[in-house]
Amino acid sequence: MPYKILDKKELAMNEVWYKIHAPHVAKKVQPGQFVIVRAFPNGERIPLTPVTWDRDEGWITLITFVRGKTTMRMANELKPGDELLNVAGPLGNPAPMKKFGKILAIGMITGIVEVFPIAKAWQEAGNEVTTLHVSPNPMVILKEEFENAVSRHIVEGFDLQPGWGMNEIAQELVKRAVAKVKELLENEHFDMILTVGPAGGQKAVFNVVKEFGIPMHADLHPIMVDATGMCGACRVTVGGEVKFACIDGPGFDAYKVDWDELIHRSGFYAPMERLALETYLKQLQAQGGEQ
Ligand SMILES: Cc1cc2nc3c(=O)[nH]c(=O)nc-3n(C[C@H](O)[C@H](O)[C@H](O)COP(=O)(O)OP(=O)(O)OC[C@H]3O[C@@H](n4cnc5c(N)ncnc54)[C@H](O)[C@@H]3O)c2cc1C
Ligand code: FES
Repeated sequence: MPYKILDKKELAMNEVWYKIHAPHVAKKVQPGQFVIVRAFPNGERIPLTPVTWDRDEGWITLITFVRGKTTMRMANELKPGDELLNVAGPLGNPAPMKKFGKILAIGMITGIVEVFPIAKAWQEAGNEVTTLHVSPNPMVILKEEFENAVSRHIVEGFDLQPGWGMNEIAQELVKRAVAKVKELLENEHFDMILTVGPAGGQKAVFNVVKEFGIPMHADLHPIMVDATGMCGACRVTVGGEVKFACIDGPGFDAYKVDWDELIHRSGFYAPMERLALETYLKQLQAQGGEQ
């Protein structure tokens, strides 16, 4: 089955949008579900989230944050007309779809991509949805799409300072997210909170939300390999029990997640990921390609 790239564009700094022919996914996918993509013969499998889809025309759209070797290779080497090797899915459980009332849905950096289909469907199901995107300003995406889909869309953007690396960005992200969520919860009542983003940021937001005792649904991002429940790479502890995020999640009750374990496990392959990226960048340099 050819998974043709019908269109591709850079939406913002390090944010690439792909429109992919994948009729079997488009036909069945529900908000909250994801796909596993393998783009290259020697490449790894990575989980990504369909943002929009057309069931009749048989396409889905994906947005990737260019963060490591695979997403960078995809950004550099794939062009419209090329084909992805595999697009497996839809995978995981759909987000709970009911009338909660007033919802605050928070996406940190590219996490906003996963918030989109869920927030849109919650709004269509009769909820009053406020979405909050916390992100460096050059990476703000989907502003207009959110403004058309939900009751209110707030962008909490910040400028990147010269010399900042990932650590400084992460610290600023958490600081901004915590302050904005606190301000919103102190001034308004919400019945439900959703978060998607880095585990450290989600934990910090959860610590604010729990002071207000509001139910919270968190979409988790542990490392995934097969994403069909066969390897346990994605295991997380929820309510004291081991769960596999790819089949039991990716969404869980934030009050039951062992956040410290998730944060620890998320950094497990960081040295290998850095090495894979550095090796790829050296290859590009040797070929005289762009970085
Ligand atoms: C259910 C789910 C949905 C996701 N949806 C999106 C999305 O729509 N857009 C998007 O940009 N990103 C999404 N991600 C994260 C995405 O899978 C990683 O950014 C991607 O795998 C990075 O690959 P890389 O080689 O470029 O970076 P790497 O250098 O390999 O990794 C950078 C970081 O990405 C994460 N990561 C790496 N490999 C995996 C893996 N196999 N499974 C999960 N996380 C991994 C790790 O936290 C790692 O620290 C999702 C993750 C999950 C679990
Ligand atoms: S990724 Fe292997 S069990 Fe979930």
